[in-house]
Amino acid sequence: MYRNIYRNTGCGQIDLSHTGAEVAMCGWIFRSRDHGGLVFCDLRDTTGVAQIVFSPDYSEEIHKMAHQLRAEYVVAIKGDVCVRPEGTENPDIPTGSVEVYVKQLDILNRSEPLPFQIDQDIEVSETHRLKYRYLDLRRPQMLKNITTRHQTCKAVRDYLDELGFLDIETPVLTKSTPEGARDYLVPSRMAPGCFYALPQSPQLFKQLMMVAGMERYYQIVRCFRDEDLRADRQPEFTQIDIEMSFVDVNDVINLVEGLIERVFWRIKKEDVPTPIERLSYGGAMERFGNDKPDMRFQLELKDMADLADKSTFKVFLDALSSGGRVKGLLGKGMAGFSRRETDLLTAEAQSLGAKGLAWIKVKDGFESPILKFFPEDVVRQMAERLQAAPGDMMLFVADKEKVVNDVLSRMRLDIAKKQNLIPSTDKFVWITDFPSFEWNEEDARFQAIHHPFTSPTDEDIKLIMGAGKVDLSKLKSKAYDLVLNGSEIGGGSIRIHRPELQKKIFELIGLPEGEAEERFGFLLDALKYGAPPHGGLAIGLDRLVMLMTGAQSIRDVIAFPKTQKGACLLSGAPSQVDKKQLRELYIRLNVPDEGLTTG
Ligand code: AMO
Ligand code: AMP
Repeated sequence: MYRNIYRNTGCGQIDLSHTGAEVAMCGWIFRSRDHGGLVFCDLRDTTGVAQIVFSPDYSEEIHKMAHQLRAEYVVAIKGDVCVRPEGTENPDIPTGSVEVYVKQLDILNRSEPLPFQIDQDIEVSETHRLKYRYLDLRRPQMLKNITTRHQTCKAVRDYLDELGFLDIETPVLTKSTPEGARDYLVPSRMAPGCFYALPQSPQLFKQLMMVAGMERYYQIVRCFRDEDLRADRQPEFTQIDIEMSFVDVNDVINLVEGLIERVFWRIKKEDVPTPIERLSYGGAMERFGNDKPDMRFQLELKDMADLADKSTFKVFLDALSSGGRVKGLLGKGMAGFSRRETDLLTAEAQSLGAKGLAWIKVKDGFESPILKFFPEDVVRQMAERLQAAPGDMMLFVADKEKVVNDVLSRMRLDIAKKQNLIPSTDKFVWITDFPSFEWNEEDARFQAIHHPFTSPTDEDIKLIMGAGKVDLSKLKSKAYDLVLNGSEIGGGSIRIHRPELQKKIFELIGLPEGEAEERFGFLLDALKYGAPPHGGLAIGLDRLVMLMTGAQSIRDVIAFPKTQKGACLLSGAPSQVDKKQLRELYIRLNVPDEGLTTG
């Protein structure tokens, strides 16, 4: 593979078996050390790094040329592979037992001094890294991340191909989809005043594919969502998107577990124990305070209502009497916290939305400013429930259920990190039995949690299609999320395939018929022509690769990512366009001057 006019081997491919052979290699000068007598360089290509040596004993002329070599010069060499002298081997790299004495050197290109060093793991600002992404990508760690991404896609394609899935492309210039984020819009020149939306996912098209009888579809596909960005979100990201016909929940879950097993084995040589644990949405909220629990460690939230009720602590009693909750969390190993540290913890709880944070330290006895409100026996029961032992601290939040869960679930993660409670294993969990609908305060109506094509459970379908009144807040759906180490890496559902049920659901959530028709009419029409039962899921490829490589940010596994503000620092997108271009699109800008930025 590496044999051509520039080389007969990759830099990372030489070892003791090549001793005495003449090799031709090419690549970039990674590091160089000029010892006067001998010049040592590390030569790098995609296969790895080899040490090359310039010695005056080999060639005076080439030794002289070697003094000109600077970081990232591009060279081709010919030389002899020799065993490194004892004591100079480098066990950290595969080529570390040998070096190449150079007989011929061609400088193929020079490099200006670099804006930042790439040969060391030194901290470089991300702004710089993204502006010169082509240099940043030369770092071995980045090459490794991008390679892992490729291998993941390859494993996914192999697995799905073996199971008869077809890779089918769907349109990028399309109509608004139902995932619920803001759309990116593209103006149409040929239809003045009209816009395409970039797909938030291929949801509707993959369902149409099932109506079309394709039965098993997949696509590794770019999705676009204009939302506030975080460390694990990008405006354009990639999904492993899957849809199948004639399936129910367990069929999709089994297929995805097989996929995850295959990928983790290929990439990490790690056995993922299956079946993967399943947790109901309600159970997850109760025990962990959110629907993407990190299950690698314990620290479960515990209901304290019955015990709080036996106290005289007004904060707790008021919360309970107004329909709120009191929950506790174990602060493992935190009894030694100083006053300042507990104040900081309280401030943190407040910044997350709590009115305060109550704490009780467990030492020989109990220690807390609120101890006086609790009979000792009750405190002991609280400690028992939280499995708090001497050396620990108990933390409590009393508030509306949502606040209690939000605050304690965040603190649970912070504590686990700070107290080093997170083992370096991987832990998957399925979250199932999601409610179908949630109340939207702003619009004062129910809305679908997943999307409005998600099938209710079989029992709930009977209720919905029956004559009685249905309580929308109680309905459960056939939706499922896959969570890995506290990150949502995938989500999907069994879909509604009967038009009469779909119509009824739109009615129940108060979506006017006209609006449903306008937004999703083509899918509703398709359901009328013999749509099979179907369902699927999409895995966030970027997140999956981020977690497998241990990268800190989703941006570290994407070749050309965008900043938190949605900018591409390399190309300068988004940017202003010519007046002529705008005229052709019938667009007149209405932006205050100071608003015209490209940042
Ligand atoms: P969902 O919206 O849950 O489902 O998306 C599936 C997965 O995609 C990843 N993801 C993201 N990754 C990076 N940046 C983002 N902005 C981003 N948004 C989502 C997550 C998520 O779990 N059509 C449905 C799937 C289906 O029902 O089959 C869908 O898109 O890891
Ligand atoms: P206070 O009665 O406001 O002086 O609060 C007494 C203690 O209870 C302080 O440590 C507060 O941080 C804590 N506290 C106040 N409000 C809450 C709450 N909603 N949940 C838990 N603890 C609280």
